[in-house]
Amino acid sequence: MHVDIDGDRFELYVKHELIERVIYDLAVKMEKELADKKPVFIVVLNGAFMFAADLMRHFEFECEIDFIRMGSYEGRERREKVDTILGLNREIKGRTVVIIEDIVDTGNTLNTLLKEFREKEPKEIFTATFLYKPMAHDHKDNVDWWALRIPNDFVLGYGLDYKGKGRNLRDIYKFVEQ
Ligand code: IMP
Repeated sequence: MHVDIDGDRFELYVKHELIERVIYDLAVKMEKELADKKPVFIVVLNGAFMFAADLMRHFEFECEIDFIRMGSYEGRERREKVDTILGLNREIKGRTVVIIEDIVDTGNTLNTLLKEFREKEPKEIFTATFLYKPMAHDHKDNVDWWALRIPNDFVLGYGLDYKGKGRNLRDIYKFVEQ
């Protein structure tokens, strides 16, 4: 199975059934740590919307959910600079904060966010990402939880896009050189 987007080919990589299972397992781990902490989950848009929705459905304790929007990719090209397009406009002082990311690749986005958020004096900050690439190695201490580790391939689906497309796919696909 494959999808073609703007002349580029992506082949099926991770099926939805496996995605559901790893997200459930991740939610169980997170609940153990966060159950009594009334956490504020901060979802990094756009890519994390689908992961966050499924993860949050499994979190059965009191929590709040908020959204921010970042951008660092153009097509498959990574840009050094991470832009904050929609910032956080709420208090997190003294709170347990959990940043929810779609994918940690170089780790730049997460690193930038952690720096920004620490200045707001939360009680503690955790990070959860759906996918985790080994490129992020330099920042691995910043990642508390991940659902799946993948190699350095460019992937799309389940919230992740290529040129703005493919976010709606329920499985994950990876780029194939032709
Ligand atoms: P980082 O700052 O390099 O860790 O990259 C973070 C952002 O780049 C993610 O939140 C994604 O939006 C995007 N990104 C990184 N790798 C991929 C990929 O394989 N497919 C789609 N988007 C990606």
